[in-house]
Amino acid sequence: MNAKDYLKKISAELDAPIKKYIEDEEPRDLIEASRQYPYAGGKRMRPAMAIACCGAVGGDRSKAVPLAVAVEYIHNFTLVHDDLMDGDEKRRGMTTIHVNYGMPTAVLAGDALFAKAFQIIADLDVPDSAMRGILRYVTRAVWDLARGQQMDINNEGRIVSEDEYIETIRLKTSVLFAAAAAGGAIAGGADDKTVAAINGYAIDLGLGFQMYDDYLGVAGESSKTGKSVGNDIRKGKCTVMITHAMGHIKDVAELEEFKGILGKMDASDKEIGRALDILERSGSIKYALDLAQKKVDAAIEKIRFLPESEEKEFMIELARFAIDRDV
Ligand code: IPE
Ligand code: IPE
Ligand code: MG
Ligand code: MG
Repeated sequence: MNAKDYLKKISAELDAPIKKYIEDEEPRDLIEASRQYPYAGGKRMRPAMAIACCGAVGGDRSKAVPLAVAVEYIHNFTLVHDDLMDGDEKRRGMTTIHVNYGMPTAVLAGDALFAKAFQIIADLDVPDSAMRGILRYVTRAVWDLARGQQMDINNEGRIVSEDEYIETIRLKTSVLFAAAAAGGAIAGGADDKTVAAINGYAIDLGLGFQMYDDYLGVAGESSKTGKSVGNDIRKGKCTVMITHAMGHIKDVAELEEFKGILGKMDASDKEIGRALDILERSGSIKYALDLAQKKVDAAIEKIRFLPESEEKEFMIELARFAIDRDV
C-alpha cells in the first residue's frame, strides 16, 4: 500500500478517537477554536507513524492509538501558536485561528489542546516503565520544539549557516515526529536499541520533510497546501535555499534584487515569483531538494534492519512521501 492510501486509512481510523476528546463545554468560542484544526484533519503523518512504529516492532497497533491521538493534539497545538507567531492567515484551507477568534483565544486554544494531549496519554494501556519512557520523549519534544520555534523566529531577517538551519528544523519539526515514532516503538515493546534507531529514522525524515515544506512554502500552490505561500520570503525567514542562494547568485544586480525582495513584507506575488526564478537559477532549489533526499535516504537506512512487515514498508513509503507531495 502506498503512503497516501495508508495515511488515508489510518486517518479514517483515527478520526473518531481524535474528535471525541473535545466535548461540548463552555465557553463556545474556545471549544470551537480548539476543534478547528483537529477536525479539519491534515495529513496525520505523526499519528500514522506512531501506529506503524508500534506494529513494525511486533507490537499490537491498538496500544499506540492514545499516543497517536495525543501527538496529533500536540501537533495541532503547535500549529495554532505557529500561525499566530508567523502571522499566517491560512491553514488546512481555512482561515487561521488567531484571525478567526483573536489572539487571546488562539493562545488559550493552543494551551487547551496541549493539556488535552496529556489527558489522552493517561489512557495508554502500557506497562509503567513504557509510560515513563513515552512521557520522557513527548515532554522533551515539546520543550525542544519551543527552542526550535524561538530559533526560527530569531532567524528571521538574518542569514544563518546551513548547520544552524538544520539544528533549528531538527528542534522545531523532527523531534515531534521522533516522539511519535519512538513512543510508538516503546508502546510496541521494543528494546532500547530499536527505539533509538527508530528515533533516528524519524529525526532524519523530519529534516527532509521540513526542507521540502520550506520548498512548498515558496514554490507550492496555496490551493493544494492549504497554507499561505511566499510568506517565508516576505518575512525574510532563512531556509537552506536562502543560505545557499546568498553564495550562489552570480549576477550582482540579481543578488541585489533578491535581497530587496527578501524580508519585504508587502512583496507582491509577482515579486515572490521573481525570487523563486532567481532561486531556481542559482541552483538553490535543487540544492535544498537534494539535501532533503539525502536525509530521507539516511532515514530509510536506519530502519532497514527491522523485519519485513506492512508497517515497515509504510515507514519507508512515508519517508519518501515526506519529500514527494503537493500538500
Ligand atoms: C505542518 O505540518 C507543520 C510543519 C512542521 C511544517 P504538516 O504538513 O504535517 O501539517 P498537517 O498536519 O498535514 O496539516
Ligand atoms: C512549522 O514550522 C513547525 C511547527 C509548527 C512547530 P513552519 O512555520 O515552517 O510551518 P508552516 O509552513 O507554518 O506549516
Ligand atoms: Mg508557520
Ligand atoms: Mg513557523
